[in-house]
Amino acid sequence: MPKSKIAGIGKYVPERVVTNEELKQYMDTSDEWIQERTGIQERRYAHRTNETTTTMAVEASKIAIQNAGLTPTDIDFIVFATLSPDYYFPGCGVLLQREMGMREIGALDIRNQCSGFVYAISVADQFIKSGMYKNILVVGSEKHSFGLDFSTRGRNVSVIFGDGAGAVVLQATDEPNRGILSTHLHSDGASAEILAMYNPGTHANKWGHYANFADATIGEMFMSHDMIDSAQNFPYMDGPAVFKKAVVKFPEVIMEALQANGLKPSDINMLIPHQANLRISQFVQHQLGLSDQQVYNNIQKYGNTTAASVPIALCEAWEQGKIKEGDLVCLAAFGSGFTWASALLHW
Ligand code: ACO
Repeated sequence: MPKSKIAGIGKYVPERVVTNEELKQYMDTSDEWIQERTGIQERRYAHRTNETTTTMAVEASKIAIQNAGLTPTDIDFIVFATLSPDYYFPGCGVLLQREMGMREIGALDIRNQCSGFVYAISVADQFIKSGMYKNILVVGSEKHSFGLDFSTRGRNVSVIFGDGAGAVVLQATDEPNRGILSTHLHSDGASAEILAMYNPGTHANKWGHYANFADATIGEMFMSHDMIDSAQNFPYMDGPAVFKKAVVKFPEVIMEALQANGLKPSDINMLIPHQANLRISQFVQHQLGLSDQQVYNNIQKYGNTTAASVPIALCEAWEQGKIKEGDLVCLAAFGSGFTWASALLHW
């Protein structure tokens, strides 16, 4: 049975740097508050008009495909993770296929928010192990800056997020001591509303607003002025509740991956945690007894880029020579859903 290895990797972050100082122009916040609570010093925002989740993904994918020594027509399948798609539908996978001039291959969109990229890696790994595909493009990309509440009302969420994209080519390999050892996926929908954007959506709570179809147009039920006035078109987060769950589930899913392969934390050469919040990453590092050299964080520069954060951090760690062939790398993520996931691989 073939295994899958990361044959190429790329990242793209927009040029525009947005510092904590700049955010003070829009909302009541401070550099001290943001750095102390999240570790974030600055983030990138896409150009408002000509950069989208898909265009950023295209840039990251071009680099990943080139690094793999391939061309876009060599790709057999696309798995695209995002929570900020260009359109409500269709998903970004088909837009990427079009923009990159790929063959009429399958394109799958993944909606698992911060865990999206690790879920996407797991899905792609199964297709490769089954022998169905040889080269799969796995992408995480987000344009958060277009959908945040920049007033003081939304400050607990909006200061955290940034834009960017990362991509890998997952390739079938028979090489010993290379490739994905295992992936581990989890969810707990009991906490779905704790970290969520409720609208536009079709959830049942809307029937409270309207007695029957005649009271409103279908369009209004989907997204009404009321919903906009009460900020339901922006992400909602109960920060402390997310923190409490994340610091339990991150170490748990990392240990699950290690134990499945008869390994221990000291065997990890590099842990790439989803860049949710520096405090969460540090807590996880401490829990597992890992050294600073075993964990890579870059939330300080890019903020939390949700599905893009793991591939951006993985790419940057590799570019800096912190990951070498044969190294044991662990990818781990936790986010909205709640969902959490890990992947253990030999680089
Ligand atoms: N600037 C200044 N003050 C702020 C800001 C801000 N940006 N945001 C909130 N505050 C204020 C609040 O209004 C509140 O003021 P009050 O006490 O006068 O009412 C005070 O700060 C504390 O608010 P909390 O929401 O309780 O803030 P907390 O100390 O919990 O920190 C944070 C918020 C950083 C989000 C924290 O809960 C946390 O680390 N949560 C983990 C979740 C997380 O990191 N999510 C990232 C995205 S989700 C993911 O990737 C999994």
